[in-house]
Amino acid sequence: MKTKLAGIISLALEESYSTQEIEGLLETPKHTGLGDLAFPCFTLAKAYKKSPTLIAEELATKIHGKFIKEVRVENAYINVFFNQLQFAKEVIHNVLVHKNQYGGKPKNGQMVVLDFSSPNIAKPFSMGHLRSTVIGNALANISEKQGYEATRINHLGDWGTQFGKLIVAYQLWGNKEAIEQNPIEELFKIYVKFHDEAVHNEALNNQARLTFKALEEGNDEMLSLWKWFRLASLKEFEQIYNMLGVSFDSFSGEAFYNDKMEFVVEELTEKELLEESDGAMVVQLENMPPCLITKKDGATLYATRDLAAALYRHKMYQPAKLFYIVGNEQSLHFKQLFAILKKMGYAFAENCEHIPFGMMLKDGKKMSTRKGKVVLLADVLKETIEAAKNNIEVKNPGLLNKAAVANEVGIGAVIFNDLKNDRMNDIEFSIEKMVTFEGETGPYIQYTNARIHTLLAKGEFTLSDSYLHYLDTEAWEIIKLLESFPNVVENAFSQASPAIIAKYSLSLARSFNKYYANTKFLTGESLEKDRLKVAYAVSIVLEESLRLLGIKAPKEM
Ligand code: ARG
Repeated sequence: MKTKLAGIISLALEESYSTQEIEGLLETPKHTGLGDLAFPCFTLAKAYKKSPTLIAEELATKIHGKFIKEVRVENAYINVFFNQLQFAKEVIHNVLVHKNQYGGKPKNGQMVVLDFSSPNIAKPFSMGHLRSTVIGNALANISEKQGYEATRINHLGDWGTQFGKLIVAYQLWGNKEAIEQNPIEELFKIYVKFHDEAVHNEALNNQARLTFKALEEGNDEMLSLWKWFRLASLKEFEQIYNMLGVSFDSFSGEAFYNDKMEFVVEELTEKELLEESDGAMVVQLENMPPCLITKKDGATLYATRDLAAALYRHKMYQPAKLFYIVGNEQSLHFKQLFAILKKMGYAFAENCEHIPFGMMLKDGKKMSTRKGKVVLLADVLKETIEAAKNNIEVKNPGLLNKAAVANEVGIGAVIFNDLKNDRMNDIEFSIEKMVTFEGETGPYIQYTNARIHTLLAKGEFTLSDSYLHYLDTEAWEIIKLLESFPNVVENAFSQASPAIIAKYSLSLARSFNKYYANTKFLTGESLEKDRLKVAYAVSIVLEESLRLLGIKAPKEM
């Protein structure tokens, strides 16, 4: 609507201002008594050499159209009131006809590659990996809604010197049966033991280095141990992905690039970017510490593998964008990575973007799955599902398939709690708070939507025609929110911010609940049909918002 009004104004101004410029100037008045949109004329005063008020008065006479009911001038502001029913008719029609396609864009033939989740083999799936998983998955869905093809890559941490340590630890203290039972916990235990022992036994570190070297050179025994650790860990990760409803197109992790790194080193050498430093090879960078490419013994590093991965993805997918959804603390790593790509002359470095995020906190402290006792994420998720089950027991004891709904609500609560915050913020993990059906929670959105479905069922609603014939004044906020959904999705994409959609869904749910509290829907009159059409449209957009965030929408709860 903003665009439409901007178009009308820019025409009235005889095109000395573009629609876009005008759109940027349009404001949403503080309260509805001042209209639905306001256009301040101050900025035009200079160009027109007239007083802003005079401009406003002249311009106001030229603003009219099907959706405009009234135009008032107040202190150099042009306040525009929409023809609410006419406007609502179009919006509701759009939503009801397009259903879950509403707010989307047609396929644009371009690709977005998203590197996310990326946990480390033989280590617990951390809260940071959970955040990456949830944010990355939402961004992939949002990209698809914007017309892109999304490729979801899990860049597993399955290579590096730590595997030398792990293999040595296994050879010293490993218990095959225990690992088969409980791979990550057991492997992590001996890995931690390795570190404790290595503090006063330097020989261990040396042995680990040699072991990794052997692994990189393809030693059969080492390789088969590594494969086993990887597969067993992956199985456990799969459980978490199943719970979260997240899937990947590729699990090519760091190890995948093992045979591709020599070309990177060669290319860096050819382009005269490598420099020796204490026997190691580094790339010097401006305003940043140098980036280590190979160690003294020739072993490669995390950064080397990321360089190989970026080149491979560029070749393989030709992505319009390459997103790395990785914690804040790796900012320098990605700055270095992109800077090296640029130095190598790759224009696609411009399309690479690190999407950072803050920490997960519990009682104000960093929530860790690393130190001390291993807290496995699957257990945390089970706890939230349990809490959701208890809530449902109180709210709706008669509900059928309680277990399935509790799953969707418990998991949805965790995802929403993460995504409702701007990603750079640290977020608090409070199971109690996130599973309540009120307040800024996922269950609140799910509950609102389920309520609408109950309402539609009670009213025996069927969609006869998709046009409204009547609109309650109290529903006007809802209509405006529904109309803004395509814009909301677009902004969420351009700012790589699922929070924009999460916050939007909260506004929409709140706005609907307010309307619902003050309106009798099921009156049996002809107005009932129109009210239910609005309710149905709200549920379509709530469900689609939840889907984009990676959250299920039970029809009953
Ligand atoms: N495995 C890494 C970690 O846990 C994250 C990898 C992120 N992706 C990447 N291409 N570097 O810290």
